[in-house]
Amino acid sequence: MKTLIKNGTVVNSTGTATADVLIDGEKIAAVLAPGSTLLGFDIERNVDTVIDAAGKYVIPGGIDAHTHMQMPFGGTEASDTFETGTRAAAWGGTTSIVDFVVQYAGENVLDQYHHWQEKARGECAIDYGFHQILSDVQDSSLVAMDELVNEGVSSFKLFMAYKGVFLSDDGQIVKAMQKAAGNGSMIMMHAENGSVIDLLVQQAVAAGNTTPYYHGLTRPWQAEEEATHRAIMLADLTGAPLYVVHVSAKQAVEQIMIARDRGQNVFGETCPQYLYLSLEDQLGAQSEEWGDFEGAKWVCSTPLRSKAEGHQHHMWQSLRTNDIQMVSTDHCPFCMKGQKDMGLTDFSKIPNGIGSVEHRMDLLFQGVVDKQISLERWVEVTSTTPARMFGMYGTKGVIQPGADGDVVVYDPQGHTSIGVEKTHHMNMDYSAYEGFEIDGHVDTVLSRGKVVIDNNRYLGAKGDGKYIKRGLSQYLI
Ligand code: URP
Ligand code: ZN
Ligand code: ZN
Repeated sequence: MKTLIKNGTVVNSTGTATADVLIDGEKIAAVLAPGSTLLGFDIERNVDTVIDAAGKYVIPGGIDAHTHMQMPFGGTEASDTFETGTRAAAWGGTTSIVDFVVQYAGENVLDQYHHWQEKARGECAIDYGFHQILSDVQDSSLVAMDELVNEGVSSFKLFMAYKGVFLSDDGQIVKAMQKAAGNGSMIMMHAENGSVIDLLVQQAVAAGNTTPYYHGLTRPWQAEEEATHRAIMLADLTGAPLYVVHVSAKQAVEQIMIARDRGQNVFGETCPQYLYLSLEDQLGAQSEEWGDFEGAKWVCSTPLRSKAEGHQHHMWQSLRTNDIQMVSTDHCPFCMKGQKDMGLTDFSKIPNGIGSVEHRMDLLFQGVVDKQISLERWVEVTSTTPARMFGMYGTKGVIQPGADGDVVVYDPQGHTSIGVEKTHHMNMDYSAYEGFEIDGHVDTVLSRGKVVIDNNRYLGAKGDGKYIKRGLSQYLI
């Protein structure tokens, strides 16, 4: 199967050019000046499919490096399966995800890894890789870390919050970091001070402050800044590289910035919710159906921060200045009915998470339209850097010969209305971005050379996606 995408504006993180992209089988075969022939060979007449991308952007498929499909969490399970979640991702121009294998305390890491491979195999619409979550860090977990790197799982997430569920103490964190420093893998950190948060939550509930807004108030920025600083110090002590996930507080960004300026291998990820949504939105949230429980739709951790305090503004700025290097969704969807409503009378029982795997590329493109980031930076933070950060670059994250044919044709003249009844394909009964209007549209999506989305039609199938055996981060020497 040969496809020619002609006359488009090819956007890589390094620059933009009008070019034709030839895809042969699963791979990009050539990027050529428009209308070129190959040694007199008329390309257009010798391909199976021609896609005219005149006036449109041709970009590498999005890579969402932080998703939780069907994750057991908060007394329930994330509502997107590998099938529904990856299909929704494809609709939104994302052609690869990196999901998290979960190990709860007492479980065996390798058993969990094999279990997750079973869960995803044959289910995904797009390519998928895995990070491994470590909670208690057993001796066998340390051995497993070496084995997992050989399996293509080269990054390990630890939690400084969620006591009794995920939390690792500082000694356990140091043990995992020492191992990562030795085997070249990446430590990912959920950086919030769990003990402080647990105390504030207990006090709020005891005082009768039980609405979703208190979720944010009981996870203050100081708890994020302190944990981010501590994680950076522990990483410095051990020599491990550190990737701080879902950064929402400007003070946490500052800690990352200081560490990077000192020459430490510290990286930061933010998410669309911290670029577009705020604590004030949650405070003001009301609906006929849910009253002030409406705010549960945006309960996630780290929490939404105050717009008045400037976190949102700072997050966009940090993306421009590269103090934050990439944007993932932390896609962890729960329905309001039957899931979020477990916390109707007590916010601490609301399962934490927001779903947006389908909307990341659009929401970040809106950042281009709004002049928050450049076109090339859009590609960089949503595709190229995730590929480099997590050992996939060259195969993924770039339009160049030899790369996978993961390509999105994006129409800047198009339009996307986000909402449950509109562009929504995620398995959620609400949208965290209901009513958002995007000045752009995902027209065509190719996953390893196969057209999976074609002008509002889904042509893919479950099982199209292959496991990505990742290498080590390409930011580390
Ligand atoms: O609220 C969130 N972020 N839920 C998913 C779990 C995590 O901490 O990433
Ligand atoms: Zn987390
Ligand atoms: Zn997460």
